Amino acid sequence: MKLLLTFAIVGSTILVGVIQYQGFRTERTNSVNGVGGTITLTQAEITRHNQDGDCWIIVDDNVYNVSRYLQVHPGLATTIWPYCGRDGTVGYDTKDAGRPHTRTADSLLTQYLLGPVGATISRDRIEATNSAAGLTE
Ligand code: HEM
Repeated sequence: MKLLLTFAIVGSTILVGVIQYQGFRTERTNSVNGVGGTITLTQAEITRHNQDGDCWIIVDDNVYNVSRYLQVHPGLATTIWPYCGRDGTVGYDTKDAGRPHTRTADSLLTQYLLGPVGATISRDRIEATNSAAGLTE
């Protein structure tokens, strides 16, 4: 009887853990790839996208999803990494070296626009910027 009770407790603990983990994974995936519904570009939301493969940056109060672009950035992904989840206006305007990006870069950037900081946007916009055409110059 004691053994049965132990099995029941251990079993249900594992089950609850698995269910919670699945919920967590769904939430993370939805925040980047979800379709339908809306998402608000709060500072907290922007901050969550702070890594390679899931990188949002702010330039001039607009939020850009450069997750895919990182891989083909002529200045390498590593130069953008410090700005993932943060304001990258100065970094973008100076290339970290006192010289501006070309107009080509400016027009590429527009393809990754999610919207102004604080705006509520369609989740479809995230998907669109993940598959933006301008991955190369
Ligand atoms: C936010 C931080 C960023 C930093 C610090 C940065 C830095 C750099 C550096 C060091 C280079 C190579 C050296 C050079 O061409 O002068 C470069 C080139 C380039 N970057 Fe970035 N970059 C950033 C973001 C972006 C973004 C978001 C885009 C476009 C979506 C972009 C597009 C380009 C392009 C097209 C080039 C080729 C040269 C040019 O057109 O200016 N960069 N970047």
